[in-house]
Amino acid sequence: MATVALTLLPAGRTLQVDRGVTILASAHGGRCTSCRVKFVSGLVPPPTIMDELQLGDALVREGYRLSCQCRVADAITVQVSPPVDDRTFQILGGERPAGAPMPVTIDAGVTKRLVRVTLPTEEHHQTSDLEAVLDAVGRTADDCSPEVLKTLPHALREHGGEVTVASFGRRILSVEPGDTHLMVFGLAIDVGTTSVVTTLMELASGEQLASVSSLNPQAVFGGDLMSRIAFAQFDPGNLRKLQTRIIGLLNQHIEQVCRDSGVLAKWIYKVVVVGNTCMHHVLLGIDPSYVGLAPYAPVMRHPLTLAARELFLKVNPEARVCLLPIVAGFVGADAVAVALATRMDDSPEIRVAVDIGTNGEVLLGSREHLWACSAPAWPALEGAQIRHGMRAALGAIDRVAIENGDLVLHTIGDAAAQGICGSGLIDAIAVLLDAGAIDWTGLIDLDHADRLPLSLRSRMMKRGDERAVILARPGESGAGQEIVLTQDDIRQVQLCKGAIASGAAMLQRIAGVPDDKVAELMLAGGFGNYLSIRSALRIGLIPALPEPRIRYVGNAALLGAQLALLSEIERDRAERIARGIEHVSLAAHPDFQDVFVDCMNFPRA
Ligand code: FES
Repeated sequence: MATVALTLLPAGRTLQVDRGVTILASAHGGRCTSCRVKFVSGLVPPPTIMDELQLGDALVREGYRLSCQCRVADAITVQVSPPVDDRTFQILGGERPAGAPMPVTIDAGVTKRLVRVTLPTEEHHQTSDLEAVLDAVGRTADDCSPEVLKTLPHALREHGGEVTVASFGRRILSVEPGDTHLMVFGLAIDVGTTSVVTTLMELASGEQLASVSSLNPQAVFGGDLMSRIAFAQFDPGNLRKLQTRIIGLLNQHIEQVCRDSGVLAKWIYKVVVVGNTCMHHVLLGIDPSYVGLAPYAPVMRHPLTLAARELFLKVNPEARVCLLPIVAGFVGADAVAVALATRMDDSPEIRVAVDIGTNGEVLLGSREHLWACSAPAWPALEGAQIRHGMRAALGAIDRVAIENGDLVLHTIGDAAAQGICGSGLIDAIAVLLDAGAIDWTGLIDLDHADRLPLSLRSRMMKRGDERAVILARPGESGAGQEIVLTQDDIRQVQLCKGAIASGAAMLQRIAGVPDDKVAELMLAGGFGNYLSIRSALRIGLIPALPEPRIRYVGNAALLGAQLALLSEIERDRAERIARGIEHVSLAAHPDFQDVFVDCMNFPRA
C-alpha cells in the first residue's frame, strides 16, 4: 500500500502512514507522543519500549507514559499532556536543551533497497547475476554468502530484474523478487531459566506486533540453574538435548508471532537474544560445565553475531542473531540488558536494580561505577516448586487482600482461580504477616490463631505434619479445587527473597552505600502483572526504602533486548556497559552467610 506523510504539530513529527488509514490509527503505535500522560496517583505501569524510545528515560522515570500503550489495571489518576515546564515541550518538540536526555533514535542496522538490476542479455557480456546485483548496490562479492547466491537466479528473473536487497551493515542478507522494502522485522528474545519471551517488532517504527511467552521446556531437566548445568555437565548428549529443546521452542514462538501478525518469517532479519550465561551457552551448544564449577568462568563474554541458519532458527536464514555480552558466570547478558534498559550507566545518582527471576541479579551503581552480583533465587516467584504455583496467566491469583477479616482474591482476567502467581504469592504472604497468621520467622502461627477473625482462622490448618492456609475453597473465586499456601511454599519464598535481599544488602555494604544514598530502587522481573511494591517491602524482598523511591520497571531484560534490536547504538552501548560492570562474588565474602540468614526472616511489623 502507498504511504503518505502525516505531520503532527506542535511536536513537528512526520510519520509515513498508509494511505486511507485514520489519523488516530496512524498516530497510535507509540510514534507521535501526542497521547502522553503523567501518572498522578495509582500504580505507574512498567514502561514499554515505545515509552522508552519516544519519551526517553528521564520522562519515563518522572511517571510519563504514552496512553496508547497503557492498559488500566487499577484505579489511577493521570494528567493529559501535562505542560510540566517549558523544557518538556522542547524535549518533545525536538529542540533539546543542553544536558536533557535524548530519546533513542531507531536504527536497527537493517536496510532494504529496491533496485532494478540489468540482467545480461548477450552471451559475450562477461558478467554474472551476482555482479549485476553488486553493481546495483555497491558491494563486493565478500559481502554475499553462498546461501544468498543460491536464491539469485530465480529472484532476479521473477520481476524482470526488480529486486529488494536487504543488508545488515555491508552484509547482504537477501535478494528478494519485487518490492518488499517495507517488510523489515526483528525479534527480541529473553531466554530465562524458567520462562522464555519472544516479541516481534517492526524495525522501522519500533512497533511491537506480537508477543508470546512460555515455560522453558528445559525445565524438565532441572528447575534451577545449577541442576540444569549438572544435567549437561560433561555429557554432550544431554547438552544437545537442552539445546534442541530451546531451539525447538524458539521456532514455535517464531511460528506463532508470525501467525498472529501476518508477517512472513523470511522478513525477519535481526534477532537479539538475552539470557543468563548458562542459557546463552546452551543456546549456542557451548558446554556450560565450568560455569557450574568454581571459579565459575564463562567460556566467552564478548557479544556474538551469527547467522540464523547456524542456530537452525526459522527466520531469514541469513538474519543476524545478536547475543549481548556477558559479565561473569552468573551475571549474564540479561543483567547487561537490565542495566541498558534502566540507564544505570548514565545515572548521576546511585540506583539499584533488582531483577527477580529464577537466577536473580542485583545491580548497584551510577555512571561512576556499576557492581553486580547474582542472587540465585529459587524459581518460586515464577510459579515453580509452589504447590499451586503458576505463571501470570489467565486464572492466576495475582492480588490478595484482607477485607472484613477474610481473604479477598483477584485473578488475572477475572477468570476462575487456577493457582497463584508470583505477585499473588508476595501479596498473600504480606497480608498474612500483617494479620499475624504468619510470624516473622515464616511459621504459619496456628498456636496464636485464636487472636484472628474467625473466617481467617478457619483457613489455617494442619493436615498431618503440614501447615497450610487455604486461599480458595472449591467454589470460592470460581476455583475448581482447593488452592492452598503451604508452609513449604512460604519457605521457598523465604529462600528466594533471602537471596535477593542479601544480594542487595551485600552490594550496598561492598560499595559503601547506605539506604539513604540510594536514589531509586528498580524492581524488574517478568511477572506479567504488576507486583505490589508495598507487599515486596512488607516481606523484605527489597531494601526498606521509602515507597516513592521504588518503582516497578517490568521485564527490563526484555526491554534491553528490544532497545538493542531497534538501535545499533544501544547494542554497542551494551558492550561498553558489560565491560564496565564489576562482578561481586557473594559466596566468597565472609559476611555473606550471616546477611543471608538475616534476610530469610520477615521484617517485624
Ligand atoms: S497515540 Fe501516538 S504515541 Fe500514543
